[in-house]
Amino acid sequence: MNAAAFAHHPEQGSLTQRDLDDRKAEPWFDPAGFFLAFRGDELVGFHWTKVHAEEGLGEVYVLGVGPGAQGGGLGKALTTIGLRHLAGQGLPTAMLYVDADNKAAVSVYERLGFVTHEVDLMYRTET
Ligand SMILES: CC(C)(COP(=O)(O)OP(=O)(O)OC[C@H]1O[C@@H](n2cnc3c(N)ncnc32)[C@H](O)[C@@H]1OP(=O)(O)O)[C@@H](O)C(=O)NCCC(=O)NCCS
Repeated sequence: MNAAAFAHHPEQGSLTQRDLDDRKAEPWFDPAGFFLAFRGDELVGFHWTKVHAEEGLGEVYVLGVGPGAQGGGLGKALTTIGLRHLAGQGLPTAMLYVDADNKAAVSVYERLGFVTHEVDLMYRTET
């Protein structure tokens, strides 16, 4: 599902089962904050949240909706469920990283009230 949702993204899209297993073995991993959406038996989306306990900060760590299920409100619903979970942990603030040209994701996040905190610039040259 991650590979399908992030097919356009070289780094996130190439995450393997092994990478997932490694992250699940990290001390911060909390299965209660990893939400999966099913339509019948089919996995159609997920929202993996992360808690930065020292900073009192929640994170939309990875959000993905399968290509066939996009545009139907699932991304918004999954984000909301994860944010409720983070708020329920007593975290007053949530953050995330998103590429500025990812119009669908930026739109979901802005509609849910996120604002830009910091902008990183990346330069590239044609070779
Ligand atoms: C980003 C993503 C999760 C959004 O999920 P989705 O289910 O398609 O989004 P929704 O249907 O819930 O849309 C929520 C809102 O965003 C808007 N939106 C969705 N796609 C949009 C697009 N391409 N351009 C502009 N607005 C868009 C919708 O109109 C909707 O607005 P509304 O609240 O007024 O109805 C999904 O596109 C995805 O998985 N993309 C690939 C992975 C990815 O980039 N994840 C985020 C990484 S930070």
